[in-house]
Amino acid sequence: MIHTSERVSLKHLLTVEALSDQEVMGLIRRGQEFKKGAVWQSAGKQFFATNLFFENSTRTHKSFDVAEKKLGLEVIEFEASTSSVQKGETLYDTVLTMSAIGVDVAVIRHGEENYYDELIQSKTIQCSIINGGDGSGQHPTQCLLDLMTIYEEFGHFEGLKVAIVGDLTHSRVAKSNMQMLKRLGAEIYFSGPEEWYDAQFDVYGEYGQLDDIVEKVDVMMLLRVQHERHDGTESFSKEGYHQQYGLTVERAKRLKKGAIIMHPAPINRDVELADSLVEGIQSRIIQQMSNGVYMRMAILEAVLEGKA
Ligand code: CP
Repeated sequence: MIHTSERVSLKHLLTVEALSDQEVMGLIRRGQEFKKGAVWQSAGKQFFATNLFFENSTRTHKSFDVAEKKLGLEVIEFEASTSSVQKGETLYDTVLTMSAIGVDVAVIRHGEENYYDELIQSKTIQCSIINGGDGSGQHPTQCLLDLMTIYEEFGHFEGLKVAIVGDLTHSRVAKSNMQMLKRLGAEIYFSGPEEWYDAQFDVYGEYGQLDDIVEKVDVMMLLRVQHERHDGTESFSKEGYHQQYGLTVERAKRLKKGAIIMHPAPINRDVELADSLVEGIQSRIIQQMSNGVYMRMAILEAVLEGKA
């Protein structure tokens, strides 16, 4: 068990592997405190945040909006479709501008993996960067809210059996979660179409058929089929996918009594999991969305703490 009473302080949040176990547990603990009503003491300083989303988002974008407002930050609106991005301005110059006008923290989602490298190497850009998802790379804030949700349920990670199922190669959620859950002592099982599995995941867990895994696991984490990252040549049947790789009502009956169902959402209902399971008793999907606000408050606080 990792204990921490220290408040976490971060310059940026770009990947989960850059966090120590103590920092992860510190953020989970702080997320839980915010959920119970804790208030951030910003020493009276005014902070500015902006959310730069170059890929579509509902949960990440809007829960950052809510988290920023709950912390009392000034939120600078940005829409790529009505910004100077439409005149050809690059991501670098957009962030440089935000930094120059006084933005303290920029939450960024972008289609390019590792888009943040050139931003953090800049000597001119002063604002902190929080990665809201980089292509098929990582989704660290989703990983941390998933960890918070698992921790709330079980109170530990060591020895938990976690299935990560679905479109693994294209999922940044899967990559962040497999790295951190393995490091925290969970046992990982992978399942889903073989063409969406990569041998590089072998170091984190064991690949198998869902029917051979379903009765073993404490956490059944389904992933969205990411059609937008496919090349369009694959034939795909929703019903065929659901029956072979999805959590059907029949398969869900074989889950352990205390097992929970998770999905980062958006969900393709009746594809990754049966419609009736989404809001069912074993689902923690709604809790994941709510926890997103509290975990993002903890992350924002951690990057602003050093500037306060
Ligand atoms: N889970 C997640 O990242 O959802 P959005 O794409 O809606 O932000």
